[in-house]
Amino acid sequence: MNTQIIACSNQKGGTAKTTTCVNLGIGLARAGKKVLLVDRDPQGSLTISRGNPQPDKLPFTLSDAMGRILTDQPVRPGKGILRHSEGVDLMPENIPLSGMEVSLVNAMSRETILRQHFETVKRQYSHIIVDCQSSLGLLTVNALATANSVLVPVQAEYLPAKGLEQLLQTINKVRRQINPKLKIDGILLTMVDSRTKFCQRNRRSAAGELRFQDQSLCF
Ligand SMILES: Nc1ncnc2c1ncn2[C@@H]1O[C@H](COP(=O)(O)OP(=O)(O)O)[C@@H](O)[C@H]1O
Ligand SMILES: [Mg+2]
Repeated sequence: MNTQIIACSNQKGGTAKTTTCVNLGIGLARAGKKVLLVDRDPQGSLTISRGNPQPDKLPFTLSDAMGRILTDQPVRPGKGILRHSEGVDLMPENIPLSGMEVSLVNAMSRETILRQHFETVKRQYSHIIVDCQSSLGLLTVNALATANSVLVPVQAEYLPAKGLEQLLQTINKVRRQINPKLKIDGILLTMVDSRTKFCQRNRRSAAGELRFQDQSLCF
């Protein structure tokens, strides 16, 4: 199966990354796709949203898998993945992932640990959607290094749109140095109240902020 890996990323918190991942995943599953949602946020919001109120009690999560890869131990394909009746599987996460960022600093191939992990599971899925944490650290770089494309949810307000410059710089750097095929799927304006002039104006300002070479990506 030709798997589409989509990273949902914005270093700003509260821009509806997790909400977008859940809804996109369920929408794709309803369209008959086989979807894996991956929680890359130590807060475990995606894990909680998918019906696991206590992520810290889960026996095996993404950070455990990454820890095993870092120490050259085998990971059984699919270990830790939670199956769901809606046809959207979940690779859960919890607090230990925040410690993983520190462990990655001195690791060999530290930007591609997630890519190595996905190699073992991706053929089972048509789409893998990665919910990134609100930062541009190594965990996010790992997601961008393995993704085919990145989707950027951003609130239709002035400062969140301004903050995109930093994210775009990171995406361009990952493209240049690790993953030249990384595409930007688009800027997804979230929590839009199109009745207000404020929102209409900021929609234009977000579009203007994003000078993606020849692509028009704001939707
Ligand atoms: N379209 C929307 N309308 C109202 N509230 C929303 C909408 N989308 C997301 N939210 C709420 O905004 C908050 C932040 O969303 P979340 O997906 O957790 O953002 P992030 O993952 O970027 O931190 C959550 O409480 C979520 O329920
Ligand atoms: Mg989130």
